[in-house]
Amino acid sequence: MSNSQWASRLGFILAAAGSAVGLGAIWKFPYVAGQNGGGAFLLLTFALIFSLGLCLLLVEMAIGRAAQRGALRAFAALGPRGWSLLGWWGVVGGFVLFSFYSVVGGWTLAYVLKAFDGSIVTTDGERLGAIFGAFTADPVHSVAALAAFVGLTLAVVLGGVQKGIEAASKVLMPLLFLLMLVLIVRGLTLPGAAQGLRSFLAPDFGALHAAVVIDALGLALFSLSTGIGAMLVYGSYVGPEIDLPRSAAWVVALTTLASVLGGLMVLPPVFALGMSPAQGPGLSYMVMPAVFAFLPAGQVFAVLFFVLLAVAALTSSISMLELVAASLGDRFGWRRGPVSIAVAVLVLLAGTPAALSFGIWNGWRIGGRTLFEAMDYLVSNIMLPLGGAGIALFACWVAWPQVRRALGAAEGAADGAGLRAVRIVAGIVAPAIILALWVANLRG
Ligand code: PHE
Repeated sequence: MSNSQWASRLGFILAAAGSAVGLGAIWKFPYVAGQNGGGAFLLLTFALIFSLGLCLLLVEMAIGRAAQRGALRAFAALGPRGWSLLGWWGVVGGFVLFSFYSVVGGWTLAYVLKAFDGSIVTTDGERLGAIFGAFTADPVHSVAALAAFVGLTLAVVLGGVQKGIEAASKVLMPLLFLLMLVLIVRGLTLPGAAQGLRSFLAPDFGALHAAVVIDALGLALFSLSTGIGAMLVYGSYVGPEIDLPRSAAWVVALTTLASVLGGLMVLPPVFALGMSPAQGPGLSYMVMPAVFAFLPAGQVFAVLFFVLLAVAALTSSISMLELVAASLGDRFGWRRGPVSIAVAVLVLLAGTPAALSFGIWNGWRIGGRTLFEAMDYLVSNIMLPLGGAGIALFACWVAWPQVRRALGAAEGAADGAGLRAVRIVAGIVAPAIILALWVANLRG
């Protein structure tokens, strides 16, 4: 895709939605929502996706489109040089994200194999927990799985089949949604599931402390792939024929749908099987196989599910590699192939300790967090919100003339109501809220 543009509006929407819809909806959303207690957290997260998230996504895409450059050169192209620091923030964030995301991507590939040999299709929750624990604690298997996922991402990008994968996701994403619907129905009809879900959903607004709100914000931005420049890079391939607000609305709609389905799919069986969201990042991988086991031809469902999830993860990891490699390549004039390979190798090195932090390096903690958890926290709760605030301030107060044009406004005309709303939310409300949350959180 180097230097090229999307073939059509659909091409851009597919790539952007492919980036957004990934492990976030099915792996991260259920356990983070579960750990933060139900309804109030969910309402808040969705409210953030539709307000701040949408506006940040929009201005991030617009910067890319206006600059027609990668994250490292885009800011200086539209404003004073010092702003390129934001590009570095994004590239570093993208690198750390790609590193730990690939660990979970690797689990997904490994579970495709486990689905094939049938070993995970059992209704015994304890056994599923043990299988997940044993696999992630095994240094050889977990690092091999990580390497396979990074390698696959690299192969797609180098092989130039990226557009093919994105086009395929036009069929595969709806198929994943459809499969999730079937799994939701089965999960909700397990004894105890509906009741567990109902009590889980009862909102408790008193539980929304600053740290919880940051979790919700981090989850919203993570789900939309916005805050570190991945959507900026995708936006830089956008030609004049594409309607950015409409594309962003599609991304928000599909992300929301995927997250709602993800939560409804994973959490009810968690309650029915007596598991708990406190089980953490492995939750989806521990509980979903049990749902397959409750279905006829469960093994077929299992294979299909993990294959589709792997494709969804891949269309997200491609955008991470793209963010880092395309931005470095564009900045330093490096060729696409070698720089992508170098980034993948470094990601493998950085991801390895994260993978091992589920096993032999589990005792190694940073502020109580394993290395994997610390990397996730750094990206989701610090880099995405602060990066998003920086991007929004830049877009609204430094490069607004170019940004509004990239959003489709005519030159010389006054900003319409929509543009004014975007500017107020992205330029004032979002940075103020993010800053206030950080101050409140630091005070404890
Ligand atoms: N939105 C992706 C997912 O949900 C993750 C992502 C975050 C991708 C930030 C790119 C940038 O899986």
